[in-house]
Amino acid sequence: MSGGKLLETLAGTRFATPPIWLMRQAGRYLPEYRAVRATTRSFLEFCYTPEKATEVTLQPIERFGLDAAIIFSDILVIPDALGQKVWFEEGEGPKLEALTDPAQFGQLSRARLAEHLAPVYRAIKDTRAALPKETALLGFAGAPFTLACYMIEGSGSREFAKVKLWAYRHPESFALLIDLLVEAIVDHLCNQVEAGADAVQLFDSWAGVLPEEQLFSWSLEPMVRIAHGLRARHPKIPVIAFPRAVGPAALMYRRPDAFSALSLDTGMGAHWAARELQPHICVQGNLDPLMLVAGGPALEREATRILDKLAPGPFVFNLGHGVVPQTPPDHVAQLVEIVRNWKPSAS
Ligand code: CP3
Repeated sequence: MSGGKLLETLAGTRFATPPIWLMRQAGRYLPEYRAVRATTRSFLEFCYTPEKATEVTLQPIERFGLDAAIIFSDILVIPDALGQKVWFEEGEGPKLEALTDPAQFGQLSRARLAEHLAPVYRAIKDTRAALPKETALLGFAGAPFTLACYMIEGSGSREFAKVKLWAYRHPESFALLIDLLVEAIVDHLCNQVEAGADAVQLFDSWAGVLPEEQLFSWSLEPMVRIAHGLRARHPKIPVIAFPRAVGPAALMYRRPDAFSALSLDTGMGAHWAARELQPHICVQGNLDPLMLVAGGPALEREATRILDKLAPGPFVFNLGHGVVPQTPPDHVAQLVEIVRNWKPSAS
């Protein structure tokens, strides 16, 4: 079996030190990424060029020897594949032709998803073939609520007023969009697994803007349906859920029937997670990405604090959110050293 330490950890094995990979480990903080990125103007076109996506996916593995690679792509390839206009503006992030009326949902179609995203699957196949067999390859997708945020807001947002008001005022029509996304995401994840992904992560980056009951309906429940849909076709594939910034509502995501691990954001207390989550489910996280910018003794102290609390349980070392562009690559190397040399304290 390919996938080594990460897959074994997700299946419940404990090692002396945890596996480590980092969200956004392939990105602008790496000069070799910027060099490949500079060869294509459009970000989506870059994602859809298998040779380039494969090359940048492998870069952080070659440099740091991380335990997993995550395929270079984006969560917004799904709205793009469904027929919504998506583009990336330099320095501004993603833009979409926003959905403003439920009548527009009818224009979104799953019919051409596999064909449209074939370059992503090709990149997965080539990356899996190039990776050492002990390195896991992760596929991923945005969770339905986070995708709906971008599809209805038309960009990132601070308040998410449009998407929330749509969900609160017209839950029946919002449910239609969520259902369409659940089906599209199951297709996309199954295709990624069939191309060679060893495990998948679901990013619900904006889950934390919802109150508890809405969180259940629009974040947890659709993610569980996706995990069950994937597992109906691929029973052994681990699913990592990342419901970002949900606080103590993370308790309801302890669903071993659906998820193999919960990815924790930086705000989640390690001590609390060790007590409330880890007895039920493997956790992943949750170093502040800015600690990786700081480096030095601050990074050493904080990474060790997290390891002391969480490494005794089933644990995957990661950040609480993605690597930021100003991160010095040497600090990533320092972090890998800290994690691989960690020893349980005597006390
Ligand atoms: O290394 C990896 O993690 C794999 C690739 C990956 C990207 N995006 C590449 C990317 C992954 C897993 C994502 C997920 C993603 N994309 C999320 C969920 C995780 C999170 O951050 O909460 C979200 C919300 C998006 C949407 C998105 N894509 C935004 C908001 C942006 C702009 C932000 C920025 O940093 O500019 C993107 C663009 C993007 N996706 C970049 C990368 C490396 C940067 C663009 C570039 O290199 O030109």
